[in-house]
Amino acid sequence: MQQQFDEGVDSWKSVMFLYNSALKEVSTKLEILNDEFQYVHQYNPIEYIKSRIKSPESIVKKLKKNGYESSIQNMVNYVNDIAGIRIVCSFTSDIYRMAEMIGKQNDLTVVSIKDYIKNPKQSGYKSYHMLVTVPIFMSDRVIDTKVEIQIRTIAMDFWASLEHKIYYKFEGNAPEYISRELRECSGIVSVLDDKMLSLNEAILKAKAEAEH
Ligand code: GTP
Ligand code: MG
Repeated sequence: MQQQFDEGVDSWKSVMFLYNSALKEVSTKLEILNDEFQYVHQYNPIEYIKSRIKSPESIVKKLKKNGYESSIQNMVNYVNDIAGIRIVCSFTSDIYRMAEMIGKQNDLTVVSIKDYIKNPKQSGYKSYHMLVTVPIFMSDRVIDTKVEIQIRTIAMDFWASLEHKIYYKFEGNAPEYISRELRECSGIVSVLDDKMLSLNEAILKAKAEAEH
């Protein structure tokens, strides 16, 4: 019996149980995809994966920011990143490879995609975001649960982590020159990613030629 999330989930504990289970399900899937890729192509597209459950404080803050009362219903309906997974890849091409593999998983439903690599944010932020749902099988029902997946390169992750730290210090009111320099750094990150990718392609090509 497939149920909508909001029909039978009413307590904080049951909601958190679902999001934790969803993180486990998606993490395992990603590990399997990475392992399979390793044995077919002899390399890992994933450098590392981080996952986290949003803290109650952050959930309340986000609801408030978007004008919603703090309730279980509102958090389930309007906070899409309670369960979050970050996949950090080696090269930009790996990001799209991962996204495609995730999209092809029959038991995942892709709800939305935001490509902040093709369309970076005003801040300079780059990443590929997918909102997916995964069915969580319980003893008496199945509940589709949301997980936000962020896919980025090591360089994009480096930028996003430091930018987040800097902005946190200014509580969002950073002086204009800082925002400008951060955008500039984001440009440097893209140059670095492009260079690393072409280097890798050149190395693979040279290796293939040497083998023939
Ligand atoms: P929130 O930004 O989370 O309120 O929701 P949204 O619906 O605007 O989603 P969006 O896809 O824009 O961003 C979701 C997540 O991406 C955030 O929680 C951050 O983890 C990350 N993110 C988005 N923009 C930035 C940014 O400018 N800098 C950094 N460091 N991270 C960002
Ligand atoms: Mg945002």
